[in-house]
Amino acid sequence: MDQRNFYIETYGCQMNVSDTEIVNSILMEQGMQPVQEPEQSDIIFINTCSIRENAETRVWNRLKEFRSLKKEKDGNLTVGVLGCMAERIRETIMEKEEFVDLVVGPDAYRDLPKLLAEVNDGRKAVNVLLSQEETYADVKPVRTNDNGVNAFVTIMRGCDNMCAFCVVPFTRGRERSRPMESILDELGRLSDQGYKEVTLLGQNVNSYLDKDNDFTTLMYEASQIDPEMRIRFSSPHPKDFPEELLHVIAEQPNLCNYIHIPAQSGNNDVLERMRRPYTREQYFDLVDRMREIIPGVTLSTDIITGFCGETEEEHEDTMSLMAKVRYDLAYMFAYSERGRTLAQRKYEDDVPEEVKKRRLSEIIEQQMNIQEELNQQEIGRRHLVLIEGTSKRSDEQLCGRTDTNKMVVFDRHDLKKGDYAEVRITDCTSATLMGDVIGKSSIAGFSKKAEAVPA
Ligand code: SAH
Ligand code: SF4
Ligand code: F3S
Repeated sequence: MDQRNFYIETYGCQMNVSDTEIVNSILMEQGMQPVQEPEQSDIIFINTCSIRENAETRVWNRLKEFRSLKKEKDGNLTVGVLGCMAERIRETIMEKEEFVDLVVGPDAYRDLPKLLAEVNDGRKAVNVLLSQEETYADVKPVRTNDNGVNAFVTIMRGCDNMCAFCVVPFTRGRERSRPMESILDELGRLSDQGYKEVTLLGQNVNSYLDKDNDFTTLMYEASQIDPEMRIRFSSPHPKDFPEELLHVIAEQPNLCNYIHIPAQSGNNDVLERMRRPYTREQYFDLVDRMREIIPGVTLSTDIITGFCGETEEEHEDTMSLMAKVRYDLAYMFAYSERGRTLAQRKYEDDVPEEVKKRRLSEIIEQQMNIQEELNQQEIGRRHLVLIEGTSKRSDEQLCGRTDTNKMVVFDRHDLKKGDYAEVRITDCTSATLMGDVIGKSSIAGFSKKAEAVPA
């Protein structure tokens, strides 16, 4: 038994949050206890992200603080680097950051007890091997940091898409799917524990495949576990989005009417350089189908500005794509060159930093205006909101999201976290809706009412 305390700080995407829950489980099996403060712990892990330069810079800065803490504790602190950076920079970390004791990549977490034992013996420990099979299917994630309402469930790992700009295939290895049974079992457990919303995670969920079960089957089966538990997913790829899934989403009340569908660029030449195998026109067709089949569906996207060789006209195409689609939400980034990627090997990172930044602010400004206009149209509508907690501004107000993934703030009444409430929207900003509570509700109750009186 190892009875030490550990602390994990998580950076990067939802997949990393989910991985931290797997690490919790593996360490707690050994008798170790998670703590919420680095100062109180015997072991500090930092679960890292490599997606853009600034994600890595943030981790380096944090590591400096852990180095000081280790000094203050006269060396009585173990420091471990987990996750995507572990794959990329294991040598640098082990050579330059002599206070780092272990480096463990995303497919090697089962090895943590053994690696910690090596550190106890005074050695440094590394395992950054990537696996073709590891899905941690039998590990029951321990969720120590969430709100008890929303949970992430990883359904596949790795990525084979090799988008030219992206480091993920190098940090997370080959794509593999977790067995459907193990996913459905976890959803059942989450429902028993009172969770009300689950987001299924994968780098490209469309290619989920377990025997004959594809992503559409998985989504349908997931919807049947608990009719009062919402299901979301992230992310699909525009190149092979299954149309059948749109029908399943439209038919099942607990599959949310919200799709994150990363476009990256609105120009066909840029898409080709990015190795994103779809065109602007195909993307528009897909968006049209989504809106036809799921009336009222909301959409979000990821966009990169200033990719290698991006001209002003190509940038304008991204502006016009976004203006045409009118996303409800967008995650927008300036291109950041990553080692080993195709773009780094083949193209020059030739758009000057200030041009990338200017293009980024242009798309952000346009997006904020669109979001505000779309949110204005919500005023007067009724939504079913899943309450996630108290609002940031006041304890007297609660916040939660609509089925369409919009954040709503409203007065507390006698409602609490985890309840569904029917809310009428009264006001908005570009980021948030404000509303009046009509009453406590449920997915079943709200859908029945919506059929009788459309919102
Ligand atoms: N697998 C997910 C994306 C994971 S990364 C998907 O394909 O949807 C999340 C987002 O980060 C990407 O969609 C992309 O917009 C952005 N991104 C990835 N690599 C980047 C880079 N080198 N520079 C800037 N943004 C990048
Ligand atoms: Fe990266 Fe593309 Fe895979 Fe997404 S689909 S993780 S952007 S390589
Ligand atoms: Fe996620 Fe960052 Fe890795 S976005 S997959 S933690 S590089």
